[in-house]
Amino acid sequence: MTAPITRVRVLPHPELCAEGLSFEARQGRKLVDELLAHGIAIEHACEKVCACATCHVHLRSGAEFVAPADEEEEDQLDDAWGLDAQSRLSCCVRVKGTELVIELPRFSRNHAREA
Ligand code: FES
Repeated sequence: MTAPITRVRVLPHPELCAEGLSFEARQGRKLVDELLAHGIAIEHACEKVCACATCHVHLRSGAEFVAPADEEEEDQLDDAWGLDAQSRLSCCVRVKGTELVIELPRFSRNHAREA
């Protein structure tokens, strides 16, 4: 049996995804894994265990489908660059619902390394 599918739309980002991207993601998978699998080189410095905040994204649409951030995620998010009310750590979000719209932050907390 194939897993249910969610449409993921990634808004254009100058380095990671200049044209934007839309793809079908498997529900239940970590959002960060689906982004990586579709060619978005999002950072994941702690190897996806909610300990670094480099996998920060803005969930512009679809937040109602996914489980809200827990305390651990909220703590890490405090260190994210460009934090806003729609900020999530993509290693903590499990894909769900009909559509998720993702905006990648201009920088991550590791951005000094990119120079
Ligand atoms: S990869 Fe480190 S918090 Fe998500």
